[in-house]
Amino acid sequence: MNMNEVLTGKLKGNYKAINWNQVDDEIDKATWHKLTEQFWLDTRVPVSNDLKDWRELDDDHQWLVGHVFGGLTLLDTLQSQDGMAALRNDTTTQHEIAVLNNIQFMESVHAKSYSTIFSTLNTPTEINEIFDWSDTEEYLQNKTKKIYTLYHDDGNPLKKKISSVFLETFLFYSGFFTPLWYLGHNKLTNVAEIIKLIIRDESVHGTYIGYKFQVAFNQLGENEQKELKDWMYNFLYDLYENEEKYTHLLYDGVGWTDKVLTFIRYNANKALMNLGQEPMFPDTAEDVNPVVMNGISTSTVNHDFFSEVGNGYRLGNVETMNDDDYKIGSWEDKHKNK
Ligand SMILES: [Fe+2]
Ligand SMILES: [Fe+2]
Repeated sequence: MNMNEVLTGKLKGNYKAINWNQVDDEIDKATWHKLTEQFWLDTRVPVSNDLKDWRELDDDHQWLVGHVFGGLTLLDTLQSQDGMAALRNDTTTQHEIAVLNNIQFMESVHAKSYSTIFSTLNTPTEINEIFDWSDTEEYLQNKTKKIYTLYHDDGNPLKKKISSVFLETFLFYSGFFTPLWYLGHNKLTNVAEIIKLIIRDESVHGTYIGYKFQVAFNQLGENEQKELKDWMYNFLYDLYENEEKYTHLLYDGVGWTDKVLTFIRYNANKALMNLGQEPMFPDTAEDVNPVVMNGISTSTVNHDFFSEVGNGYRLGNVETMNDDDYKIGSWEDKHKNK
């Protein structure tokens, strides 16, 4: 099917039914399986079991938890309302549209899940204050508007993909630090369970969009590649400078700022890795606070993302991704051998 005709709404030939038995890009099918296997809903996690831990937190720490989740709500709202719709306009296969449909719905689940947490832990007055804050806070709005603007720039499909990966794999992590920190201390474990489910999804989203970016990027000429690379690193640094201010605003009150900055630089490098690029910062997994790494690694087992290609999916058999899952070259090699 000519995707251009479909995407522009100007059909010249016939409309074509999606055939999952004839897939142009095996990564589409593997990602669909992975994402549907790990489907979840916020309402199935017993957040109220965390009320005892919550009541033991002082005001500064309760403020932090509420507001990092306010920030995350805004970013997941952006992904669900604008992000996937923007990427849909640049798809190359029908199966890619199906995968983006799945991602779009899950972004709505993510955005909603913070409200489930708020309704359990916070008073209605606190909830209103958190949303007023998310809708007006300067640094949070800065990053959201930068990504939003690129999502609506149809002349730059690859910049849209870069923006999406930076959001998925980098910008979320100043917020994710807090629940992971508590999980590493065995506190707020049900709240953290929701966040881990979100992180598991974001890992696949960032990897998949990053892979689609690389396919298109590799078709560019040398000069275009260099130009885009320069833009990408500048944009990442621009986002990082804003993220530094956002992190100070959130974390200075509890004294965790330096630990969070290390964590976000580590994740900025991961975002570049998803895009097939070299790291920008010297920070590695060894530099990240071990309590947070401990939070990330609970229920994480060694896993090869696409090892189940062609096996048919097994419901409920899902694992969190690890660093090896980001080695996109090795997936391609594997598929070549099939
Ligand atoms: Fe999300
Ligand atoms: Fe996502």
